[in-house]
Amino acid sequence: MTPEKILYALATVLCYALMCGVFSWQYRSRQRAAQRRVDALLPATPGVPAWWVAYASQTGQAEELALQTAQALHTAGVPVRLAPLSQISLADLQQADRLLCIASTYGEGDPPDSAVAFARQVMATAGASLSHLHVGLLALGDKTYANFCGFGRALDHWLMEHGAQALFERIEVDKSDPEALQRWRQHLGHLAGTNDLPDWEAPALQTWRLQLRTHLNPGSAGEPVHHLALEPVDDAALPDWQAGDLVQVEVPTALGEPRDYSIASVPQDGAVHLLVRRTLRADGSPGVASGWLTHDAQPGDTVMLRVRAHGGFRIGDNASRPLILIGNGTGLAGLRGHMRGRIAAAQGVSDAAVAPMWLLFGERNAHCDAHYRGEVDAWQREGWLSRVDWVFSRDQAERRYVQHALAESAAQVKEWVGQGAAIYVCGSLEGMAGAVNDALQTILGEEALQELAAEGRYRRDVY
Ligand SMILES: Cc1cc2nc3c(=O)[nH]c(=O)nc-3n(C[C@H](O)[C@H](O)[C@H](O)COP(=O)(O)OP(=O)(O)OC[C@H]3O[C@@H](n4cnc5c(N)ncnc54)[C@H](O)[C@@H]3O)c2cc1C
Ligand SMILES: Cc1cc2nc3c(=O)[nH]c(=O)nc-3n(C[C@H](O)[C@H](O)[C@H](O)COP(=O)(O)O)c2cc1C
Repeated sequence: MTPEKILYALATVLCYALMCGVFSWQYRSRQRAAQRRVDALLPATPGVPAWWVAYASQTGQAEELALQTAQALHTAGVPVRLAPLSQISLADLQQADRLLCIASTYGEGDPPDSAVAFARQVMATAGASLSHLHVGLLALGDKTYANFCGFGRALDHWLMEHGAQALFERIEVDKSDPEALQRWRQHLGHLAGTNDLPDWEAPALQTWRLQLRTHLNPGSAGEPVHHLALEPVDDAALPDWQAGDLVQVEVPTALGEPRDYSIASVPQDGAVHLLVRRTLRADGSPGVASGWLTHDAQPGDTVMLRVRAHGGFRIGDNASRPLILIGNGTGLAGLRGHMRGRIAAAQGVSDAAVAPMWLLFGERNAHCDAHYRGEVDAWQREGWLSRVDWVFSRDQAERRYVQHALAESAAQVKEWVGQGAAIYVCGSLEGMAGAVNDALQTILGEEALQELAAEGRYRRDVY
């Protein structure tokens, strides 16, 4: 090798190390900024009772609204304590005077994952009196689901049955309906004695460009799945996001109704990567957003999107834990974000001891549906992934899914969890997530699984 080449190689390695250092510094300062936002809400005067602002959120909307609520009250001089419902006990509620609660609904009228333990334990307590508690409740939901605002309603009924008093009638929000949110703000202003609450608007959509699109599964028995890479237009800076976050995409054929997609990359990749499957409607026509993204839009076209924090599926306190990553189909997107996130973070720190990762991924046929196979094989060879289970349902006579692979490896799942592993599940709610949840319950026990969820060691991005 010539001296020039050696110098060039050294410079490249140095630049890369510097870049990773900058990213890791940015990550830590983002974490500190988020913590400062919450710390700033603690009551300034000891002895003055704080109002609780609680949230039960799956994909972050209730959490974001709770933060905005808490900040608005704080600005109006009201001491507040912001917490997920999972961190609030019956005793907290019995000692509190005011509770403002924002709760979404998941599955089929179910609580979000992080609130399952609250629903099963606190809400199952008989005979508790909450007669000192004054409650305002904002229930988030979507009227296209059969059980609209199911959990928000159940929570409200439970609070009222136990003597809590409503500060105002429960507000139900259908798909971020601005009129309902405006009513919530008006009540807050009234309660805090101010007309001057700052405006809340969803972060604006930005113009991005579709850089490239690759069809990943030609010949598949399933609908086409595409890898998309998107970048902001005009060299605008990439926004900050973390592995586990989502984008909301608004396509020209569905203005005002953005769709969520899990981000399959990290900012170090320099672009937002998505894994999108064309869905078909009952009449056989392509879904509005997925049809546009996988067919109508062409590389070079612009796309309106915003990046959305998904606190419930981020790495959080699990950065140095072993990870069991379970998913199917386009669920590989959220898992890939975590794999790339862990690898990028480890490359920024010399001599980092990297906790192992185990991927269990299900699709139909190995010959065409093993998305990102080359990349996953390389990570396994390089030791980032200590185990990979590809589970193809249609490559043998008997249908086989990730839940079967989990059950067959029950002893190892227990061992990993015993060594502190966190479990991340991404993909179909119907068919996969429920069956995986059942398998995990059988392996670990129902209570242990609930505890893992409450500790943030069982996280899901399922849809
Ligand atoms: C948190 C989250 C993460 C997600 N991540 C991903 C991802 O990484 N990759 C991915 O491919 N998808 C993902 N999705 C799904 C995605 O958001 C879209 O729902 C999906 O692409 C379908 O949208 P569409 O506009 O193409 O379909 P739509 O046109 O909305 O139709 C979708 C389906 O909804 C039903 N439907 C909708 N409207 C009607 C109607 N008017 N009449 C009858 N039936 C109707 C039909 O059953 C149809 O099959 C995610 C969803 C969530 C909530
Ligand atoms: C997979 C899935 C299941 C849902 N189930 C329901 C439901 O049964 N009833 C309802 O009113 N809304 C349902 N919703 C809508 C959410 O409650 C709504 O989008 C809410 O704003 C999400 O808030 P979050 O981000 O805080 O979790 C569901 C959404 C998804 C993605």
